[in-house]
Amino acid sequence: VSNLQNILIRFSNGKRDSLIPILQEEQQRAGYLSRESIVLIGEHLGMSVSKIYGVASFYNQFKFHSPGKFHIQICRGTACHVKGSYNLLDNLQRELKIKPDETTKDCLFSLEVVACVGVCSLAPVIVMNGEFYANMDTKKVNELINECKTKGLSECTN
Ligand code: FES
Repeated sequence: VSNLQNILIRFSNGKRDSLIPILQEEQQRAGYLSRESIVLIGEHLGMSVSKIYGVASFYNQFKFHSPGKFHIQICRGTACHVKGSYNLLDNLQRELKIKPDETTKDCLFSLEVVACVGVCSLAPVIVMNGEFYANMDTKKVNELINECKTKGLSECTN
């Protein structure tokens, strides 16, 4: 949060039209907007936390949860939809017990729904930590998740 103070110092006039640039800079710095950050930004601009959430929710760019160690993006573009991406999403939500834009309690996985990622011939596609996984089905997704769980856990014990 001390780095957030450095951002706020640069917007020292405390004007409300600084809200979006401050949120953008804080997200760039921290990767997401924590509740603690939103409280500090609210104090700085004289705005309530709920007002800030209300404004920020209008913009798809803002994330309110820390991304998991394995950040899974599921493409819901047309080609992926036709090839069954909804089933993949449904399966992921059940397996991970989270909804899009949430992170699992163990911080291992986060889920995000994205528009076409530009490789429609490989549909349905998921992207995990920037890596593309083509022609996915629920079995492959579950295998991938299990691999990640093993990796995540073994790295924790090192
Ligand atoms: S629709 Fe999924 S990659 Fe284009």
